[in-house]
Amino acid sequence: MHGKVIVMTGATSGIGEAAAVALAEMGARLVLVARNPERGRATLERLERANPGAGHAVYHADLSLMAETRRAAAEIADREPPIDVLANNAGALFVRRAVTEEGLERTFALNHMSYFGMTQGLRHRLAAGARIVNTASAAHRGARFSMENLQSERYRGFDVYSRSKLANILFTREAARSFDGTGITVNCFHPGVVASRFFDGKPGALGFFLRLIKPFMISSRKGAETLVYLAASAAVAGVTGQYFARRRPARITAEAANDASARALWDESTRLYASG
Ligand SMILES: NC(=O)c1ccc[n+]([C@@H]2O[C@H](COP(=O)([O-])OP(=O)(O)OC[C@H]3O[C@@H](n4cnc5c(N)ncnc54)[C@H](OP(=O)(O)O)[C@@H]3O)[C@@H](O)[C@H]2O)c1
Repeated sequence: MHGKVIVMTGATSGIGEAAAVALAEMGARLVLVARNPERGRATLERLERANPGAGHAVYHADLSLMAETRRAAAEIADREPPIDVLANNAGALFVRRAVTEEGLERTFALNHMSYFGMTQGLRHRLAAGARIVNTASAAHRGARFSMENLQSERYRGFDVYSRSKLANILFTREAARSFDGTGITVNCFHPGVVASRFFDGKPGALGFFLRLIKPFMISSRKGAETLVYLAASAAVAGVTGQYFARRRPARITAEAANDASARALWDESTRLYASG
């Protein structure tokens, strides 16, 4: 990965940070998109120790807002050299429904629209043979796609999260199609159940249960392995539109394999992004 430029979201914690450090140790230069300057600085220091003198950089954005995603992508497009890997990884599970100031339900906004916005904002700056890697989840298994309920008016946190991870797979497959014939690949993966900050601070019985099982979850370093593999391994050069787990292609549900849903989500995301 020497000399490669990797743009990554959600790299100030958990899976993203572990993947960023591992890729820096392999020689890459990391360009982060972070919402919190202090956390961004702390990760930059870790990256500097992993690959000193590479000139790692951080840009700031709240990725639940399309305007900020668009601005950060434009800044990176202006200032950075062609991008070899874009890792869309920032995500969260919200127990309560909230709507962003742009009118989108925040899980959909962060977990899906930021992937879409970063990809569209940087697509003209991707290097030949570039790879896009999207962090999805096996949580998509329980989810059903519904264009009518994209903004999740009826809200149950885990269901809405699962739908956003289903959207990550639909998005990956449609994005891969949009790059057909260019040599640019788009894949997604399930990291495993990872003891990151993801499960912290959840209230009530759910919080109690998560604290109980956290010691049995895998480490962020382990959870990052498939991201690192998809970003760096020669074994997946040319592979596109696939979902991986444990560094191997894995099965997706019929909902996630539905081309009409993938197309409809893409078209609606294009419309929302243009108006946001
Ligand atoms: N943990 C698991 O078991 C698991 C399983 C399957 C899939 N995943 C997926 O893995 C990805 C990473 O999760 P993780 O487990 O590493 O969780 P994490 O430790 O909570 O990390 C989440 C990352 O996303 C960033 N982020 C959250 N909201 C943001 C916003 N509004 N704007 C910009 N950045 C934001 C966080 O920034 P801050 O540092 O500022 O908070 C952090 O860097 C997510 O997409 C998640 O859905 C996780």
